Amino acid sequence: MKIGIIGTGALGGTIAKKLVAAGHKVKATNASPVSELKERAAQLGVAAASIKDVVRDVEIIIVSIPTNAIPNLPRDLFAGVPGDVIVIDTTNYYPYRDGPIENGFIDKLESIWVSRELRRPVVKAFNNLLSYTLENRAKAKGAPGRIAIAISGDDEKAKFIVSELIDELGFDPVDVGPLSESWRHQPGMPSYCTELSAPELEQALADHENIREIAPQLRDLTTDKLMARTTPPSHQEMLDAIRSLFPINPKQDDGQ
Ligand SMILES: NC(=O)c1ccc[n+]([C@@H]2O[C@H](COP(=O)([O-])OP(=O)(O)OC[C@H]3O[C@@H](n4cnc5c(N)ncnc54)[C@H](OP(=O)(O)O)[C@@H]3O)[C@@H](O)[C@H]2O)c1
Repeated sequence: MKIGIIGTGALGGTIAKKLVAAGHKVKATNASPVSELKERAAQLGVAAASIKDVVRDVEIIIVSIPTNAIPNLPRDLFAGVPGDVIVIDTTNYYPYRDGPIENGFIDKLESIWVSRELRRPVVKAFNNLLSYTLENRAKAKGAPGRIAIAISGDDEKAKFIVSELIDELGFDPVDVGPLSESWRHQPGMPSYCTELSAPELEQALADHENIREIAPQLRDLTTDKLMARTTPPSHQEMLDAIRSLFPINPKQDDGQ
C-alpha cells in the first residue's frame, strides 16, 4: 500500500521500518529541517516528504506525533485528500510531555479530540504497545502468545484494512468498537502497553468503567514511578511497572 507517516520518532519510525520491510511504499515527514528529515528518512528506508506532500497520493496516513503537536498541523491538511484515505491516530496524551491542552481536549476520549482537530475520522491503533514491542516482539500468525493491538474507529472497512496491516506486521488486531470506546485502550487502562495476547486483551478491555475514572491517575502514577528512577528503565521494567497496576489483569513475565 502507499502510506504517509507524520512523525518519525520512536513509534512512527518503527512503524515506518516495519512497513517498508513488509513491502509497502512509505513516505514520511517530521518537524525537522529538510536536511535532517532526509537523513532520518534514509535511515528508515522511506521517502522524505513535506507535510503537504505526505498526505498526497497515499491510501493510509499515520499520525504519530505528541498530542500537543496536533494543533500545529496545518488546519487544511486534509483538504483535497479523498474521503476513503484512512487516517490512523497513534497518539497518547501525557501531561508531563504535552502539558494542558485547550480546544476542548478530553483526556478520557483522546482520539475523538484528535479527530475533531484533524477534521477527519480516525482509526485509533498502534497506541497500546511500546515501540520496543512493535520492533522486537512480532510473531507469526497463530504463534502462541502473539501480542495483540487494540483498534477502534467508526469505519468498519477502514478498521478491516488497518487490522490486516497489524496482522502483517506480526500482531493480532482486536477491534474495540467505535471511537467512542477508545478510552478502553488509553494510558492507565489494563489494555495499555501490557503485551497481552488477543484473548487477554479482550478480557482487559471488557467492563472497566470503574478503572476509566482513575485511568489518568494510574497513567501519571506509572510515569512518576518511572521518572523517579536514577537510571532509565529497561523495557521489562517498564512493562512490569505498568502491569503491576492491575491485579485484575495479572499477566506475569512470560519469559520473552
Ligand atoms: N514511543 C512509543 O513507544 C509509543 C507507543 C505508542 C504510542 N505512542 C504515541 O505516538 C506518538 C509519537 O510518539 P513517539 O514516541 O514516536 O514520539 P517522538 O519519539 O517524540 O517523535 C515524535 C515525532 O513527531 C514529530 N513531530 C512533532 N511535531 C510535528 C509536527 N508539527 N509536524 C510533523 N512532525 C512532528 C517529531 O519530529 P522531529 O523528529 O523532527 O522532532 C518526531 O519525529 C505520541 O503521541 C506517543 O504518545 C508512542
